[in-house]
Amino acid sequence: MSGPMPADRLRNLNAVSRTLLIPLSIRASESQRPDALVRDPAAVELARRLDADFASVQRPEGDRVSFLLRMREFDRQARVFLAMHPDGVLVDLGCGLDTRFERVDNGQAEWYGVDLPEVIALREDLLDETPRSHFTAGSVLDFSWMDVLSSQAGKSGRPILFLAEAVLVYLAEAEVKRLVQAIAGRFPGAELVCDVYAPVVVRLHPVPPDMPKPRWGLKDDRDVEAWAPGIRLISQWYYFDEPEPRLGAFRLMRYVPFIARAVRVVHYRLGDAAG
Ligand SMILES: C[S@@+](CC[C@H](N)C(=O)[O-])C[C@H]1O[C@@H](n2cnc3c(N)ncnc32)[C@H](O)[C@@H]1O
Repeated sequence: MSGPMPADRLRNLNAVSRTLLIPLSIRASESQRPDALVRDPAAVELARRLDADFASVQRPEGDRVSFLLRMREFDRQARVFLAMHPDGVLVDLGCGLDTRFERVDNGQAEWYGVDLPEVIALREDLLDETPRSHFTAGSVLDFSWMDVLSSQAGKSGRPILFLAEAVLVYLAEAEVKRLVQAIAGRFPGAELVCDVYAPVVVRLHPVPPDMPKPRWGLKDDRDVEAWAPGIRLISQWYYFDEPEPRLGAFRLMRYVPFIARAVRVVHYRLGDAAG
């Protein structure tokens, strides 16, 4: 292979981007368990080809299971959306090395993955774009990716679901607001699924030394409805409501109301579809 090898590309990633190794490593190792919560053969293959130090991103079992439950909820939302709109468009913001397209593809959907140029370069080393899956390089805060999306999928008027898994929490509140307002303005009627922390989690949750600190917290999920006309909260999903024995002691969190509701996955409709 000419040009940088994946391991060199990994060294170019900033602290937030390097976190993409955590969900990838969890998906890959989980897939090989007989009792896997999630099976992702594409992640197993990616992890095999990526010459990364996965030992350095190991997480305790409770964290791993929380990651998996969150991912399963994002995938469930994508599948529900595609059941309603089989030729719909999925856009993964901060896609990292996620293989959601491979997990949920129904043979008709179109998928766009947006991430920073150095991450997309790594992705391109390891995965191929297809006529229905596209990689788009750029910050989600530099809205040029929206031009690509409008000129391609947006033109056809197909319904769009934006998925932002483990990315908005690393942005400042003003950035998240500007991004949501821009999506709502450019793609009215689109839907957004994102994970959200309560402000207390952002302030107090201990972060391992190799992890960036989260920055965005949301007190009340309905606050986002005031960011642009027509934004509506559709649903909220809570990790600790899942009856998953592997959550271990984390299951007790469901009995502590302010913790039980402090980390969640939230689904919004961003205004009404343009007539
Ligand atoms: C924890 S990883 C999650 C990756 C992926 N969503 C997953 O679950 O496997 C965070 C991702 O967000 C990306 N990211 C962070 N800030 C970004 C920005 N401003 N624009 C685009 N991507 C960004 C990082 O490069 C990284 O790939």
